[in-house]
Amino acid sequence: MKHFLSVLDWDRESVLELLERAKRFVPIAKAATPKSGGNHKMTALILEKSTRTGGSYREAWELLGNRVEYISGEDKTSLGKGESFSHTARTKAGQGAKILTIRAEFEGIARWLAEMYGKYNYPTAVHNAGDGSHEHISQSFLDVLTILLRLGRLENFTIGIVGDLKNSRTVHSLVRMLSLFADIRVVLVSAPEVRLQPWYTKGLANVEVAESLDALVGCDIVYVTRVQVERFANKFDYQKVRGRYVVDRKVLDMLGPDALIMHPLPNVDGEIATEILDHPQVIVDEQAENGTPMRMAMLDWSLLRLSHPWMPPTNEPQERVLGSRSIRDALARKHGESRYFTPIETGTVVDHLDPAMYTTIREVLKLDASSTPVVVSERLSSSRLSGGRKTAIVLEHRFLEKDEKAAVTVLSPTATFNELRDGTIVKSKMDALTAIQGIGRCPNPVCITRNDIEAARSSRFLIANDGGGDLACHYCEQHMKRDEVFVPS
Ligand code: NCD
Repeated sequence: MKHFLSVLDWDRESVLELLERAKRFVPIAKAATPKSGGNHKMTALILEKSTRTGGSYREAWELLGNRVEYISGEDKTSLGKGESFSHTARTKAGQGAKILTIRAEFEGIARWLAEMYGKYNYPTAVHNAGDGSHEHISQSFLDVLTILLRLGRLENFTIGIVGDLKNSRTVHSLVRMLSLFADIRVVLVSAPEVRLQPWYTKGLANVEVAESLDALVGCDIVYVTRVQVERFANKFDYQKVRGRYVVDRKVLDMLGPDALIMHPLPNVDGEIATEILDHPQVIVDEQAENGTPMRMAMLDWSLLRLSHPWMPPTNEPQERVLGSRSIRDALARKHGESRYFTPIETGTVVDHLDPAMYTTIREVLKLDASSTPVVVSERLSSSRLSGGRKTAIVLEHRFLEKDEKAAVTVLSPTATFNELRDGTIVKSKMDALTAIQGIGRCPNPVCITRNDIEAARSSRFLIANDGGGDLACHYCEQHMKRDEVFVPS
């Protein structure tokens, strides 16, 4: 994989290979003598504040002997005039960028741009330098590099993670990174309001959730994060959780002489007390410095793979035909029911719908009486045969797209689709759905699909079973109830 979007895309072997390469880059980064002859271009679009990530991406790329176009802030580009991220990114690839490093508040932006490059056949690789409160993959790589260099191993240790676990993208990526390695115990200390969302800990066998710093006793590493003030919708919620945890000399004494204190920085509220910042067990500056060799390894990895085509898995919905028969036979047998439906010769009868989802399904199929002349009738019908109420929708002269059938099935898993044409009814169901796409809208206001006119047309939701909701947005990973994506805008 040439892109660095989310830790979810990475396996243990590739991570270990990258860490080995990064170790070799450590002395080269320290010597800070640029290699000559690379001369490839990277565009860094750093649209949120950055001291370490943007700077070390630039340093890493230049040390590899390459050129950087560094843009900080939307107002410096046509983004400030309202141009889409998609179009801006295409222009940068067209101007020769081999790597697009992007930091922005919009969650899922890196994945979206990587897919967009794939669709347009640009060989450019995308590096996610932080997308809202979603992920920060390069930070987690440098975090585990730091742990590996200090502990000499990436297994069999206990790590406490403290602070704003809900909004901290570095925590999200780190926890996923840790899940790739064996025998790691993770102690999550946070205020209940900012607990880590359950889907991030998938794959971790040993997780403890706590509210008190006392739970950190026995930790080999304590990873502290600031409260992410910029992610709170209102000041009151922020005030409620800020300043709750301070790792100071007392905590350090409690942890003992071998525990190491890490922080992605900035340390703004004194969550690591300034009195211990110079303590040898506090390794936050070393951690930041490892950013350059780690990113050298990551950028080099991408460069070697630029020509690899990459497209996301499509999760094509599968349709299973249950049977077919002539319309005439069907009408004769279902004579009793014909008073509920106006019989049609061409079109679709969507049957066995969950009555509770009826209104939402109308929304999905855009059944607005004025704008949808194809609907000739739709009735609620009670069927003694199926032992209870069922809902059907009759669409004359309309055949549904697979994506529409998938969306209806997600809302109402018992749905069947009866297509009537040329005197025959073919009955089908959607099978083993894993995703729905092209339909619905992510409710997360900072999802890229709500903030880029091109991404807006590519919504995609995965059927989720990892806690937190029935569906997960493919881009921002926000989880939601199944009907939430169909709320009219
Ligand atoms: C972090 C970030 O931007 O997410 N900083 C960084 O890149 N080292 C952490 C933070 O801002 O709290």
